[in-house]
Amino acid sequence: MIRVLALIIAVLPALALAVDLSKSQRAEIEARIKPYSQSCAVGDDSCSGVAAEPEVAIARSGEEVYNGACMACHSTGAAGAPMLGDADAWASRMTKGMEALYASGVNGVAGTGMIARGGCADCSDEEIYAAVDYMVSNGE
Ligand code: HEC
Repeated sequence: MIRVLALIIAVLPALALAVDLSKSQRAEIEARIKPYSQSCAVGDDSCSGVAAEPEVAIARSGEEVYNGACMACHSTGAAGAPMLGDADAWASRMTKGMEALYASGVNGVAGTGMIARGGCADCSDEEIYAAVDYMVSNGE
Protein backbone atom coordinates (compact mmCIF):
# COMPACT_ATOMS: atom_id res chain seq x y z
CA MET A 1 0.00 0.00 0.00
CA ILE A 2 2.76 2.40 0.90
CA ARG A 3 4.49 1.55 -2.36
CA VAL A 4 1.36 2.36 -4.35
CA LEU A 5 0.98 5.65 -2.49
CA ALA A 6 4.62 6.48 -3.13
CA LEU A 7 4.12 5.76 -6.82
CA ILE A 8 1.05 7.98 -7.00
CA ILE A 9 2.90 10.78 -5.25
CA ALA A 10 5.82 10.38 -7.64
CA VAL A 11 3.60 10.41 -10.73
CA LEU A 12 1.26 13.22 -9.67
CA PRO A 13 3.56 16.16 -10.55
CA ALA A 14 4.14 14.69 -14.00
CA LEU A 15 0.40 14.37 -14.53
CA ALA A 16 -0.11 17.92 -13.36
CA LEU A 17 2.52 19.09 -15.84
CA ALA A 18 0.91 17.22 -18.70
CA VAL A 19 -2.43 18.82 -17.93
CA ASP A 20 -0.83 22.24 -17.69
CA LEU A 21 0.25 22.29 -21.33
CA SER A 22 -1.81 24.71 -23.32
CA LYS A 23 -3.18 23.78 -26.71
CA SER A 24 -0.57 25.82 -28.52
CA GLN A 25 2.25 24.29 -26.49
CA ARG A 26 0.95 20.85 -27.41
CA ALA A 27 0.80 21.72 -31.09
CA GLU A 28 4.31 23.10 -30.92
CA ILE A 29 5.69 19.97 -29.32
CA GLU A 30 3.81 17.71 -31.72
CA ALA A 31 5.22 19.62 -34.66
CA ARG A 32 8.73 19.33 -33.23
CA ILE A 33 8.61 15.58 -32.71
CA LYS A 34 6.92 14.86 -36.02
CA PRO A 35 8.87 12.35 -38.13
CA TYR A 36 11.26 14.01 -40.56
CA SER A 37 9.35 12.66 -43.57
CA GLN A 38 6.36 14.74 -42.54
CA SER A 39 8.32 17.94 -42.11
CA CYS A 40 8.34 20.59 -44.79
CA ALA A 41 11.36 22.62 -45.74
CA VAL A 42 10.82 26.12 -47.10
CA GLY A 43 10.65 25.98 -50.89
CA ASP A 44 9.93 22.24 -50.96
CA ASP A 45 6.90 22.04 -53.19
CA SER A 46 6.44 18.31 -52.71
CA CYS A 47 4.82 19.08 -49.36
CA SER A 48 1.09 18.98 -49.71
CA GLY A 49 -0.85 21.86 -48.28
CA VAL A 50 2.19 24.02 -47.73
CA ALA A 51 2.70 26.80 -50.23
CA ALA A 52 6.25 26.74 -51.56
CA GLU A 53 8.16 30.01 -51.57
CA PRO A 54 8.81 31.19 -55.11
CA GLU A 55 12.51 30.81 -55.90
CA VAL A 56 12.93 34.15 -57.61
CA ALA A 57 10.88 37.26 -57.26
CA ILE A 58 8.44 37.67 -60.11
CA ALA A 59 9.90 40.04 -62.65
CA ARG A 60 8.44 43.52 -62.85
CA SER A 61 6.99 44.62 -66.16
CA GLY A 62 8.70 47.25 -68.28
CA GLU A 63 6.04 49.74 -67.29
CA GLU A 64 6.54 49.04 -63.58
CA VAL A 65 10.31 49.44 -63.84
CA TYR A 66 9.88 52.61 -65.90
CA ASN A 67 7.47 54.12 -63.37
CA GLY A 68 9.72 53.21 -60.49
CA ALA A 69 13.18 53.97 -61.80
CA CYS A 70 13.26 55.69 -65.18
CA MET A 71 10.38 58.13 -65.14
CA ALA A 72 12.17 60.78 -63.10
CA CYS A 73 14.39 61.61 -66.06
CA HIS A 74 12.66 60.07 -69.03
CA SER A 75 9.31 61.79 -68.48
CA THR A 76 10.87 65.21 -68.00
CA GLY A 77 13.82 65.10 -70.38
CA ALA A 78 16.11 65.92 -67.45
CA ALA A 79 19.77 66.20 -68.49
CA GLY A 80 18.77 65.51 -72.09
CA ALA A 81 17.12 62.13 -71.45
CA PRO A 82 15.04 60.99 -74.46
CA MET A 83 11.44 61.27 -73.31
CA LEU A 84 8.82 58.55 -73.27
CA GLY A 85 6.49 59.25 -76.19
CA ASP A 86 9.10 61.21 -78.16
CA ALA A 87 9.06 58.84 -81.12
CA ASP A 88 11.64 60.85 -83.10
CA ALA A 89 14.16 60.84 -80.26
CA TRP A 90 13.83 57.08 -79.83
CA ALA A 91 13.80 56.36 -83.57
CA SER A 92 17.19 58.02 -83.97
CA ARG A 93 18.61 56.09 -80.98
CA MET A 94 17.20 52.84 -82.35
CA THR A 95 19.41 53.15 -85.42
CA LYS A 96 22.26 51.76 -83.27
CA GLY A 97 20.20 48.63 -82.60
CA MET A 98 18.29 47.34 -79.62
CA GLU A 99 21.31 45.50 -78.21
CA ALA A 100 23.13 48.82 -77.86
CA LEU A 101 20.14 50.39 -76.14
CA TYR A 102 19.80 47.44 -73.75
CA ALA A 103 23.50 47.78 -72.97
CA SER A 104 23.03 51.50 -72.27
CA GLY A 105 20.15 50.66 -69.95
CA VAL A 106 22.24 48.17 -67.98
CA ASN A 107 25.61 49.95 -68.04
CA GLY A 108 24.51 53.56 -68.36
CA VAL A 109 25.97 56.03 -70.85
CA ALA A 110 29.36 57.25 -69.68
CA GLY A 111 29.66 60.98 -69.21
CA THR A 112 25.89 61.60 -69.19
CA GLY A 113 23.10 61.58 -66.64
CA MET A 114 22.22 58.04 -67.74
CA ILE A 115 23.55 56.06 -64.79
CA ALA A 116 23.85 52.26 -64.77
CA ARG A 117 20.42 50.60 -64.55
CA GLY A 118 18.92 54.09 -64.25
CA GLY A 119 19.87 53.77 -60.59
CA CYS A 120 17.70 50.68 -60.04
CA ALA A 121 20.29 48.54 -58.27
CA ASP A 122 17.90 45.65 -57.67
CA CYS A 123 16.61 45.51 -61.24
CA SER A 124 17.65 42.41 -63.17
CA ASP A 125 19.02 42.74 -66.70
CA GLU A 126 15.70 41.38 -68.01
CA GLU A 127 13.75 44.03 -66.11
CA ILE A 128 15.95 46.76 -67.60
CA TYR A 129 15.44 45.30 -71.11
CA ALA A 130 11.69 45.34 -70.50
CA ALA A 131 11.85 48.99 -69.44
CA VAL A 132 13.87 49.84 -72.56
CA ASP A 133 11.29 48.00 -74.71
CA TYR A 134 8.56 49.97 -72.98
CA MET A 135 10.26 53.31 -73.69
CA VAL A 136 11.17 52.44 -77.25
CA SER A 137 7.58 51.47 -77.98
CA ASN A 138 6.45 54.77 -76.45
CA GLY A 139 4.67 53.24 -73.55
CA GLU A 140 2.65 50.68 -75.44
C1 HEC B 1 19.09 60.30 -63.60
C2 HEC B 1 18.38 60.41 -64.82
C3 HEC B 1 18.06 59.12 -65.57
C4 HEC B 1 17.41 58.01 -65.10
C5 HEC B 1 16.85 57.77 -63.70
C6 HEC B 1 17.31 57.09 -66.20
N1 HEC B 1 17.89 57.62 -67.32
FE1 HEC B 1 18.09 56.70 -69.12
N2 HEC B 1 18.98 58.38 -69.87
C7 HEC B 1 19.25 59.53 -69.16
C8 HEC B 1 19.94 60.47 -70.01
C9 HEC B 1 20.41 61.86 -69.63
C10 HEC B 1 20.05 59.84 -71.28
C11 HEC B 1 20.70 60.41 -72.53
C12 HEC B 1 22.14 59.96 -72.54
C13 HEC B 1 22.83 60.41 -73.79
O1 HEC B 1 23.16 61.58 -73.86
O2 HEC B 1 22.99 59.57 -74.69
C14 HEC B 1 19.44 58.54 -71.14
C15 HEC B 1 19.37 57.62 -72.17
C16 HEC B 1 18.84 56.36 -72.05
C17 HEC B 1 18.80 55.38 -73.12
C18 HEC B 1 19.34 55.58 -74.53
C19 HEC B 1 20.82 55.29 -74.47
C20 HEC B 1 21.46 55.27 -75.84
O3 HEC B 1 22.41 54.47 -75.97
O4 HEC B 1 21.05 56.00 -76.73
C21 HEC B 1 18.21 54.27 -72.62
C22 HEC B 1 17.97 52.98 -73.36
C23 HEC B 1 17.87 54.55 -71.24
N3 HEC B 1 18.25 55.82 -70.93
C24 HEC B 1 17.25 53.66 -70.42
C25 HEC B 1 16.90 53.95 -69.10
C26 HEC B 1 16.20 53.01 -68.26
C27 HEC B 1 15.75 51.63 -68.67
C28 HEC B 1 16.03 53.63 -67.06
C29 HEC B 1 15.35 53.08 -65.83
C30 HEC B 1 15.67 51.75 -65.41
C31 HEC B 1 16.66 54.94 -67.15
N4 HEC B 1 17.15 55.08 -68.41
C32 HEC B 1 16.71 55.86 -66.12
C33 HEC B 1 18.97 59.76 -67.83
C34 HEC B 1 18.35 58.87 -66.97
